[in-house]
Amino acid sequence: MTTAAALAYTGHTVSCIDRNPEVLYSLSCGRAPFHEPGLKELLADGLLLSFGGWEIFDPLADAIFIAVATPGNPGGDANLSYVETVAEEIGRRIDKRANTVVVVKSTVPPGTARRVEAIISATLETRGISTNLSIASNPEFLREGTALYDMFYPDRIVVGANNELAVDTLRQMFTSILEQTFKPPAPVPRPQNYKLPVFFTTTPDSAELIKYAANAFLAMKISFINEFAGLAEHVGADITEVARGIGLDERIGRCYLMAGAGWGGSCFGKDISAILHTARQFNYDMYMLEATVKANLRQQESIIKKLQSELKVLRGTTIGILGISFKPGTDDVREAPFIAIARRLIELGAVVKAFDPVAIPSCRRNHPDLTVIYVNNAEEAAKNCDALVLITEWDVFSHLDYEKLGNNMKQKLIIDGRNALNPKTLIKNGFKYMGVGC
Ligand code: UGA
Repeated sequence: MTTAAALAYTGHTVSCIDRNPEVLYSLSCGRAPFHEPGLKELLADGLLLSFGGWEIFDPLADAIFIAVATPGNPGGDANLSYVETVAEEIGRRIDKRANTVVVVKSTVPPGTARRVEAIISATLETRGISTNLSIASNPEFLREGTALYDMFYPDRIVVGANNELAVDTLRQMFTSILEQTFKPPAPVPRPQNYKLPVFFTTTPDSAELIKYAANAFLAMKISFINEFAGLAEHVGADITEVARGIGLDERIGRCYLMAGAGWGGSCFGKDISAILHTARQFNYDMYMLEATVKANLRQQESIIKKLQSELKVLRGTTIGILGISFKPGTDDVREAPFIAIARRLIELGAVVKAFDPVAIPSCRRNHPDLTVIYVNNAEEAAKNCDALVLITEWDVFSHLDYEKLGNNMKQKLIIDGRNALNPKTLIKNGFKYMGVGC
């Protein structure tokens, strides 16, 4: 959706096809069906965007982006059935005069662009036609919560293609982003000192692997700092200082070194599982990726351990949780550390109360079995609790009246699972403060 909105904003005519009528209805009314800052404002900007089913498919389109989900199968591999179904539908509908580039944007294992090409060609053959069609892989690097920013101001645009037509079409399509010739949309101003992005071309197989390697590397960086956070707690060091100290080395870089309650989201876990599955097909061990996942599970568990170290038996306690979504700026709860932590607390016999500024409806919808008490604000989450745990660093949690909150708690214990709060203020207010890696 963000890609569509940005392409429309930069002057293209874009038709968005989906099979979910609720999503289509919501978008046609200018409402984003999920929480993504700036998207609503952009949709209200009179863009050349239309929404519908296959009936709005343009058989002569210059480019067709396949951007469907590739969820994980139970064995960890990516489920490519939506990609394949869409490829077949494209083959059924494309015009024989088309000069179309079919762009695979979904996160897919190496070889998928080739598979998409084969499916479309086979379908065209059954229609007895051939077209001047080419395939490209164009992985996406958007982060939820800052998706528009990442779309308009990327570090690089990666295109994997085996022919010039595909590369030229995509280069042209992204020209105004590559050259930054568009007027920045009001909700997404251009950052100062922004350097023009690199247009990086390669083969489809490499482009597909770049996407997995990027996500795996970022997750590994976080697991790495989290592992050091555990050690910092033992030796009495402060992980925030350690992260700053190593991040100043440009070879390491400052980003993705924030220790916390573990990484989550629909991408890191799913993508690491999928690439581990690919590696297993070659009997190839990927030790670092296996450890990345293992370290992340321990990191989530470390929040429980901290509670146990202070409260001992958790049965009969009430724990208030601040933050449900897997990160701030989104209502997405897929693989959110909150889910695993809340589940474990409930298993151990604690009562869990939770507040999130936007993610409560999506958590209720996606985890109806989770017996959490959802509350309307942070004050209610803290009331009569034995401990308060911050899991998602929504900005609003940094500005709460902790003195008042503490006065309504049974015990003034706070676990700051994102090192987002000011320990001095909390300690001054009589809290026992426990961060991560400090
Ligand atoms: C991730 C990648 O960052 C995007 O580049 C990629 O396009 C996307 O997956 C995808 O494959 O679609 P996203 O899952 O939206 O983006 O979220 P991130 O901002 O990367 O955060 C992932 C998790 O890591 C969150 O739970 C966040 O709290 C955690 N995190 C992030 C840390 O614990 N520490 C950090 O320093 C950074």
